[in-house]
Amino acid sequence: MSTMSEEKEQLTPDEFIAANESKVNKRWYPRFHIAPRVGWCNDPNGFAYAGGKYHLFYQYYPYEPKWGPMHWAHVTSKDLVHWERQPVALFPDHPYDADGCFSGSGIEKDGKLYLLYTGHVDLLKKPGQPDRIETQALAVSVDGVHFEKSEKNPVITLPESVSTGEDHHFRDPKVWQHNGRYYAVVGAQTADEVGQVLVFESENLEDWQFKHVMAKAHGNQGFMWECPNFAEFDGHEALILSPQGVKPEGQRYLNLHQSVSMLGKMDYESGIFYHDAFHILDHGFDFYAPQVTQTPDGRCLMIGWLAMWESAMPEQADGWACQMTVPRELHYRKDRLVTPPAKELMALRKAAHTTPELVMTEETSIADWSYETGELCADFDLTEAEGLAVHFTAGFDDTVSLMVEKQSGLVTLVRKSAATGRKEERYAQLPAGVTHLSLRVFEDRSSLEFFINDGDIVMSTRFYPKTEERVIVLEPQEGTVHMTDGVFYELDDIFA
Ligand code: FRU
Repeated sequence: MSTMSEEKEQLTPDEFIAANESKVNKRWYPRFHIAPRVGWCNDPNGFAYAGGKYHLFYQYYPYEPKWGPMHWAHVTSKDLVHWERQPVALFPDHPYDADGCFSGSGIEKDGKLYLLYTGHVDLLKKPGQPDRIETQALAVSVDGVHFEKSEKNPVITLPESVSTGEDHHFRDPKVWQHNGRYYAVVGAQTADEVGQVLVFESENLEDWQFKHVMAKAHGNQGFMWECPNFAEFDGHEALILSPQGVKPEGQRYLNLHQSVSMLGKMDYESGIFYHDAFHILDHGFDFYAPQVTQTPDGRCLMIGWLAMWESAMPEQADGWACQMTVPRELHYRKDRLVTPPAKELMALRKAAHTTPELVMTEETSIADWSYETGELCADFDLTEAEGLAVHFTAGFDDTVSLMVEKQSGLVTLVRKSAATGRKEERYAQLPAGVTHLSLRVFEDRSSLEFFINDGDIVMSTRFYPKTEERVIVLEPQEGTVHMTDGVFYELDDIFA
């Protein structure tokens, strides 16, 4: 039998995947989220509608369930919910991407799919010198499956007029089109080590000019801005970023890294984005590096990485690691950006387990909702109670609880893990005195995504129950809670 490193040498990435995917233990493997067939994934990449299909790529290392020299895995879908696996699209094979094809984006032009990504090269760290070279490279596909890297690569290098910090962070290009021209935002760091986004302009995707620093960090906004996106939704604009190094502020920014939006207006003349402050996109434990794209019917969609750097990832023992979120939509509501689930997700619904109206004064569990994957929808009236706790448990060794306090409007997500022996909390805020709660929860083997009041608040988390027996317990706090429209949907698998 050949060893893994021999296989890695002898086989193409796709041959290696085919030879090894049956070794994956699927106990925590998602059924309706995109995850690696074997090995590791991080950021969503290249999310685009092209050739009549959605394309999603992601940062991928097939050979071990941990981060390594980055490849791009590829999946496609006609309806945004049923997906098909495609061959690995990119892997390091040129001097400019020798140590990884890092994050980037996709766009259709003249019937071809273009990918703009970061070529990453590691240098031996010496004092006073950068430890990496990061440049932006282009790859093109005629059939939407096989990609050829441009002979002009790298097509974007760090502009001489821009100085970066010692580490030369310069990555994650996200491209969009405006008035017949192409623009790309790239994440970077200033010489005094705060995050910034640079914007570049092109007529043809191959020849790029540096336009300006589009935005940069002030105060506690981080030392590096990863994965910038320019998003357009409902006639509004936002810069979406994943800043590293934002320090906790009370109940905010408790994760290692954050993903935020800033609402504003792009001035295409100057290349400056005039914007407001940070808004947290997802208040849970596990959400990073989201990427957006436009649908043919004019909506803006977003998929994120449903994981967090340096967190415990028990599925690594099973031969795979990490997954994407479900697709979400961006909308402007009550002067805010909100992110409800994409409407297409309703097409995954199969059997519906409906619960008649319930008046609860004590802990109630609904036997018909004990599935390890599915979607819970319910409306709660809190007028006669002080709040509500919704517990997702499995044999009570691992529990995730969503608690809503009526008077303060505080929402707390509590995660108790038997494996780590830890109890952790994350927070979000509803209006004080909230009396009505509409909940949609996507539960998928080792993840939970909570959408409160149609995406006003979203909280995502990984969760590793030991048993397949799931129980959802509803616990009114000091009083009576009325539940209406309670239904648990079994959901279809997204891969055939
Ligand atoms: C964000 C990130 C990107 C980078 C990629 C490498 O999670 O650090 O900035 O391109 O991951 O895999």
